[in-house]
Amino acid sequence: MWKDKGMGFVLLQLQILSFIFLSFVNSGSAGVTSAFVRSEWPSTDIPLDNEAFVVPKGYNAPQQVHVTQGDYDGKAMLISWVTAEAPGSNSVHYGKSENKYEFTAEGTITNYTFYKYESGYIHHCLVDDLEYDTKYFYKIGDGDSAREFWFQTPPKIDPDAPYKFGIIGDLGQTYNSLSTVEHYLQSGGQTVLFVGDLSYADRYKYNDVGVRWDTWGRFVERSTAYQPWIWSAGNHEIEYMPDMGEVVPFKSYLYRISTPYAASKSTNPLWYAVRRASAHIIVLSSYSPFVKYTPQWMWLREEFKRVDREKTPWLIVLMHVPIYNSNEAHFMEGESMRSVYESWFVHYKVDVIFAGHVHAYERSYRISNIHYNVSSGDPYPIPDKSAPVYITVGDGGNQEGLAGRFRDPQPDYSAFREASYGHSTLDIKNRTHAIYHWNRNDDGKQVPTDSFTLHNQYWGNNRRRRKLNKNHLHTIIARVPLTDGMRRWL
Ligand SMILES: [Fe+2]
Repeated sequence: MWKDKGMGFVLLQLQILSFIFLSFVNSGSAGVTSAFVRSEWPSTDIPLDNEAFVVPKGYNAPQQVHVTQGDYDGKAMLISWVTAEAPGSNSVHYGKSENKYEFTAEGTITNYTFYKYESGYIHHCLVDDLEYDTKYFYKIGDGDSAREFWFQTPPKIDPDAPYKFGIIGDLGQTYNSLSTVEHYLQSGGQTVLFVGDLSYADRYKYNDVGVRWDTWGRFVERSTAYQPWIWSAGNHEIEYMPDMGEVVPFKSYLYRISTPYAASKSTNPLWYAVRRASAHIIVLSSYSPFVKYTPQWMWLREEFKRVDREKTPWLIVLMHVPIYNSNEAHFMEGESMRSVYESWFVHYKVDVIFAGHVHAYERSYRISNIHYNVSSGDPYPIPDKSAPVYITVGDGGNQEGLAGRFRDPQPDYSAFREASYGHSTLDIKNRTHAIYHWNRNDDGKQVPTDSFTLHNQYWGNNRRRRKLNKNHLHTIIARVPLTDGMRRWL
């Protein structure tokens, strides 16, 4: 009788446990591997004479115009452009109404060689003391060849400032790349967070490397001249080509791309931070030394201390190599950076980490693996409410094509994955909520495919409820033995 009662009790407990476990799975813990099969353009670069790369009319007209944030808090802009024939004017004329340029700023001019290619004259000009939330018009170039553009400054740093970021990675210069940029232009995004691998010019040899940097600069100008792209560097920027006598890493990238690294006390343009509206954005370099005591490690340690979630609730990190990736391509390449930085990401409650490198899309649950230290016997990532969401957006559309082979079965930490081209947007609404979308390029159309509401890790209003739920689960489940698989989800 007692035995039967005991068995009944155990069965009841197991039923409760099954219900809880399956509820957990149904409520979003089971990952999705999308079955969508794309049918778009082949992964070949757009020909040089295509209109996507058109050279602006007029002698020595400014081309490859791009802007990025020029200071820590969004009151300055770095404006860059190239003149092909001669240095020309190095001035930016700007003001708050069209054709009326009350201010002038002077920039710097540089150029470089790569094998026998000689670059045009590369201009970088800092325009500062701008007013927040204001549209500025600017003019560069000489006489009839001058060109005019505009940009909008962000709202002042405020915890509830709404702002919409786009996220693009591994872009290249194919028809798929063009489709990604055209779709992004329709998204209403105000600033691009670029997660590395820009032009893929390193797929070429000799003078064509430089030529393909120029075509890429003209191709992206349709967006980069009008809104900041926050740059991070990938492996395709390294361009270590000893057979051509080119051995200085990131040479073309560093000549062409300017970043406001000194404003965040960084000593290197490859890693830095900016604050924009309600977001604190940290840019890391996957291909620069990052282990303990390196300059990047020392800088990041201090930058995390400067983060003030009362002013900028949203803490976003950009890097090229994803830390969590279940694609066969580049599997485990982020493990070394994970082992060094993951504990900081969790400690400082980073909201989201965007990466590229893998030519597909993937999103993780909030998980961490900080207990793993080789000897702990604890090698699996576990749900961790303080951990970031990891998102790979390496699907800009470059000539290397898609990374179509995901590891099977889908790991528990992987929430959604699909091998298609596209871009993401992060639409920050206030200090507690942001709406995230991944948009697939589908035969020329933009299709919102993966979306969720991101709750802020510092201000999120459901923290107390989550804590209560977790304690409740522990109370019930502590009565029956658990398998390792079940324990990982608690
Ligand atoms: Fe890459």
